[in-house]
Amino acid sequence: MNIPDELKERIKTAKNVAVFTGAGISAESGIPTFRGKDGIWNKFRPEELANFDAFIKNPELVWEWYNHRRKIISETKPNNGHFAIKELENIFDDVRVITQNVDNLHKRAGSKAIYELHGNIEKNFCIKCKKRFDFIELIESDKLLKCDCGGLIRPGVVWFGEMLPEKVFAEAENFARKTDLFFIVGTSAVVYPAALMPIYAKESGSYLIEINIEATEITYSVHHSFFGQSGEVLPELLEKIKLILTGE
Ligand code: OAD
Repeated sequence: MNIPDELKERIKTAKNVAVFTGAGISAESGIPTFRGKDGIWNKFRPEELANFDAFIKNPELVWEWYNHRRKIISETKPNNGHFAIKELENIFDDVRVITQNVDNLHKRAGSKAIYELHGNIEKNFCIKCKKRFDFIELIESDKLLKCDCGGLIRPGVVWFGEMLPEKVFAEAENFARKTDLFFIVGTSAVVYPAALMPIYAKESGSYLIEINIEATEITYSVHHSFFGQSGEVLPELLEKIKLILTGE
């Protein structure tokens, strides 16, 4: 792995580091990505499953789909990529994850500061009174779940056409703009407004490093890309960073 000289210099002085992740970071854990050859959106139509009108029209179908995804996720484990990101916390002063993923794997890997831009599949809430419900009680049920107030309970994820959680987005933007290094891992970077995060970071003078198995929409505007599986590239990069910082 060849580290460009400018990146070496940035690593030596970096304090604030963000890791912006997408479905690709969890691919090696066995969770399918959205786009590409085996992507979820090649097999299912987002408009039938991931939007509020679809849920109101056919809540059973939407729940069946989310329970299926939850089951897959509950049977997976964080991979070496998630753990390498967690370990960055031992190296730099302030490390935060900005994720588009809803799979909770960064939390399970131990990362402390995580901005979940698209929500979390383990969380649910009532569409009427907004009361929160947790993962366990829902996955064990095979019938449509309703809140005490009579409202339908829905997954705590962001659907197409919905706003991102405002406070989470604002805090993530604020941090992105303060970063010295900004990693972009396993995302096609085509879904907005989440894909604005690298742009905010770059505008503010951060150094952008992409890790992906292939070139993406953002490749042309990052400072450096490492091509390969994040579960392999990130641990290797982590070791290089340690060597750079110890002067070896
Ligand atoms: P995508 O499926 O669009 O992109 C996944 C990216 O991961 C692609 O660029 C792949 O090349 C890359 N990739 C796959 N395996 C990898 C590996 N082992 N190591 C490194 N990279 C790998 O997923 P996202 O960019 O996360 O939104 O998609 C963004 C949003 O679109 C999702 O959050 C979801 C979806 O619609 C909502 O549900 C709101």
